[in-house]
Amino acid sequence: MEALEAKLRLCQKDRIKLIVADGVFSMEGDIMKLPEIVKLAKKYNASIMIDDAHSLGILGENGSGTASHFGLTDKVDLIMGTFSKSMASLGGFIAADKEVINFIKHNSRSLIFSASMTPSSTAAVLASIEIMENEPERIRHLWKLTAYARERFQEAGFDTGKSETPIIPLFIRDDIKALKMTKILLADGIFVNPVVAPAVPKEDSLIRYSLMATHTKAQVDISIEKITKAAKKLGILKLQPVLV
Ligand SMILES: Cc1ncc(COP(=O)(O)O)c(C=O)c1O
Repeated sequence: MEALEAKLRLCQKDRIKLIVADGVFSMEGDIMKLPEIVKLAKKYNASIMIDDAHSLGILGENGSGTASHFGLTDKVDLIMGTFSKSMASLGGFIAADKEVINFIKHNSRSLIFSASMTPSSTAAVLASIEIMENEPERIRHLWKLTAYARERFQEAGFDTGKSETPIIPLFIRDDIKALKMTKILLADGIFVNPVVAPAVPKEDSLIRYSLMATHTKAQVDISIEKITKAAKKLGILKLQPVLV
């Protein structure tokens, strides 16, 4: 927030200013500090845009995103998202006031001369929205599973950073070990993403463990057991002393 305010202070008062941030950060699973950003935007007369790629279907009322999660939808100027994650499709959306959307339609380089979404990918998105609205128990299950998995990882001795969402980072802090661990786990039937430099600073390399609403508690238990075993093998987690 201090870095953002320092930048806003440098902006000329009468120029248009747009603060753009992810709703949920994709590598570490933390949530943007929207209430603080709203205060700064007001102070410096800036607009706000949220990239809800990793929040759609997860945060807010019926999974409608970060602004809804904070109850601040009317304070956000632009909300965009992709359909390529929780919607299991392709394409994306941008939501704003009519005037802004009209401007984007006529000036956005990537929209002009580009084909629109296919009927099948559009139908998949519509079906996803219907499921999100009509089956809220799926999102509830995902959040229950998230809290359970995070707690179990922490109990096992993993550093899960500041994650508050179903994206749970397991800090390895060594690129080679993170890659080795991913390979061992894949051979053992567990798919996780290695996140190494330059996606994150070298000392922050991690394994990204992500949950979906279709995962079960039994799958979480098995995966944590296997991940813990692999981490001990690589010397990432210290072996617990055996009590005699
Ligand atoms: C934060 C964020 N925004 C936007 C996108 C774009 O997604 P796509 O190009 O698949 O629509 C991604 C994809 O990884 C993302 O992580």
